[in-house]
Amino acid sequence: MSEPGGAAVPRIPAEERARLLANPGFGKVFTDHMVTSSWTSGVGWDAAQLSAYGPLSLDPSTTVLHYGQAIFEGLKAFHQAGGGIATFRPGANARRFGRSAARMAMPQLPEETFVAAVEMLVRADQDWVPSGAERSLYVRPFMISTEAFLGVRPASRYQFLVIASPAGAYFPNGVAPVSVYISEDYVRAAPGGTGEAKAAGNYAASLLAQQQAADEGCDQVVWIDAVERSYVEEMGGMNLFFVRGSGSGAELVTPQLTGTLLAGVTRDSLITLARDAGYRVTERRFSVDEWRAGAEDGSLCETFACGTAAVITPVGQVKAKTGDFTIADGAAGPITMRLREELLDIQHGRVPDTRGWVHRIV
Ligand code: COI
Repeated sequence: MSEPGGAAVPRIPAEERARLLANPGFGKVFTDHMVTSSWTSGVGWDAAQLSAYGPLSLDPSTTVLHYGQAIFEGLKAFHQAGGGIATFRPGANARRFGRSAARMAMPQLPEETFVAAVEMLVRADQDWVPSGAERSLYVRPFMISTEAFLGVRPASRYQFLVIASPAGAYFPNGVAPVSVYISEDYVRAAPGGTGEAKAAGNYAASLLAQQQAADEGCDQVVWIDAVERSYVEEMGGMNLFFVRGSGSGAELVTPQLTGTLLAGVTRDSLITLARDAGYRVTERRFSVDEWRAGAEDGSLCETFACGTAAVITPVGQVKAKTGDFTIADGAAGPITMRLREELLDIQHGRVPDTRGWVHRIV
């Protein structure tokens, strides 16, 4: 890794940075630096470089612009209650990046290079980590194919980059419950497809269904399986949990990872936290019929979505061609909010990290 001297000069003056950090929103503002590394067939990766954040120059024939070999990750850096800055489980993101790369016929980036690049950027741009509740630095590692070529085959050149963006709440209404529309017209992922890869194209293919959900008056789209068109898979780009029963006897159900779902780091962390809190957690198929019946007879008390960007978002209303329903009274449930607080407490260093999840950088 190398850090050229010029890269230390901030792109944005301190007063302007303070103004931007006061109300960062999500994904709109970018820090002073970025990290880049290039891969060439037969040569491998060059040393990652820290440089000033700025535009890329790409030949118009660059393969990513035509055939979409592009994958990404998302993780956050947080101010720690006792001082310093840490990220959360970056190794888990590095491993998933490797799985996404394999599925998209892209080269493997060593996990330690991924983590070191995240560390390099967070350290250089530590003044960009916002403080306060719901505030973090969202770090976006990604890889694109960069060969200038129009033939359809895996490219011979790639670029790995890491950029970062100070972030507030992902959804404009914070943790207010969202309404969802079950998409029966569109499919996110089919067996054998790219559903479990964090591939850019999956997100492009989701946009029309998300637009349809908005046209139906809903905040988010919910995807059901491609084959039987019965089982719930994900909400937008987030995993889902369903809470059956209440109190200490409650059971949490989350759709099993079949290859068509993204294996969320937040999903995995919440399974552990919920089990450690004494709840039964089951990974299995969960149908729209079971969701509706549970909501209607009161046995299903809560539903929430989870992901790095929004952490945990309660689901209040469900709209479907086969009939609408409401989860409990449509408000955020107690288990949803408890798990959310527990996860945020760990991420912000407000409680001891007993699982080796917190990765200290500064
Ligand atoms: C996340 O929750 O981190 C996501 O993947 C959403 C992101 C695409 C903004």
